[in-house]
Amino acid sequence: MQLGIDFTDRHVVVFGGTTGINFGIAEAFARQGARVTVASRKRENVDAAVDSLGRHGGAVHGVVADVRDFDAVGRAFAESVARFGPIDVLISGAAGNFLCEAKDMSSNGFKVVVDIDLVGTFHVLRQAHAHLRKPGGAVINITAPQSFVPMRYQAHASAAKAGVDQFTRVLALEWGGEGVRLNSISPGPIDGTEGFRKLMAPTPEDREFARTQVPLQRFGSLDDIANLALFLASPYAAYISGAIVPCDGGGAFESVKPALEAAGRSLSTSWVA
Ligand code: COA
Ligand code: NAP
Repeated sequence: MQLGIDFTDRHVVVFGGTTGINFGIAEAFARQGARVTVASRKRENVDAAVDSLGRHGGAVHGVVADVRDFDAVGRAFAESVARFGPIDVLISGAAGNFLCEAKDMSSNGFKVVVDIDLVGTFHVLRQAHAHLRKPGGAVINITAPQSFVPMRYQAHASAAKAGVDQFTRVLALEWGGEGVRLNSISPGPIDGTEGFRKLMAPTPEDREFARTQVPLQRFGSLDDIANLALFLASPYAAYISGAIVPCDGGGAFESVKPALEAAGRSLSTSWVA
């Protein structure tokens, strides 16, 4: 049997889909013929993503919306559905992060990450529900290893992503009866991304050490994550729902943690009030 994954004319929405890992996912679906909507906060990122995705020849729509604004998220879906029809695949991956010890973190610093990652995920899925194809819709949240691996300097993101994981599992229970599947991808260290730049140790030596701690001996690529997203959204994953699937070369626990701790140790504390 030949494995073919075709999303021709399917409507795929990627929230937070204008850069990095999520853009890589949007691009993979565009290559498979999908009609793709991408949304994020910054007009320049949305415009650049729409330009770039348009080169694959399919229909692309871009919307500026901050996941912290429930009504703006609702308007983004209304606009995209009016254009491309019900949503076949929804990816929710907007996130914010920075390294900081909890004892030095302001209340707003903790809140901003929880608001983007966790409350934002609620906003996106809650507003999307009415527009999802039922049965047949597939939702993929993007989580992170710190949702289950405790990591220093990551109290905010760890708490937020742990919430995202359990939210994914609960909605898999609630929406399964409507024929909607929900899963989550937990990427390991993905080279060349903003998350990698922010969280990885700054020195080449520490990075090289982190690389050697990955069982598969390399950092991940955008395609590694995008391929998993294509699979989870496809009929080949028709009986998979409520799963948190790592895509991390065999052990984000081993690789991300030491590099992140080295990065944290080199933090300047000059921003602390
Ligand atoms: N260390 C400690 N606190 C920090 C910080 C840092 N490096 N960066 C921001 N904060 C604090 C700010 O001081 C502020 O708290 P305060 O009001 O008590 O001073 C709070 O976080 C909000 O910062 P602000 O810059 O106003 O938030 P924002 O909404 O403009 O940006 C962020 C959100 C901080 C998460 C920003 O990093 C962002 O936009 N990230 C998106 C991209 C990203 O992180 N990608 C990687 C995904 S893994
Ligand atoms: P990124 O390039 O910064 O991607 C974040 C995306 O979310 C951008 O498109 C950004 O665009 C958007 N965004 C941020 N805040 C938003 C908000 N408030 N409202 C709407 N959109 C917002 O980072 P990345 O490293 O690729 O990370 C992508 C996802 O993978 C995140 O969920 C992250 O937690 C996860 N992850 C990454 C890694 C890694 O190695 N990089 C590892 C594990 C997990 P705008 O700035 O235009 O809003």
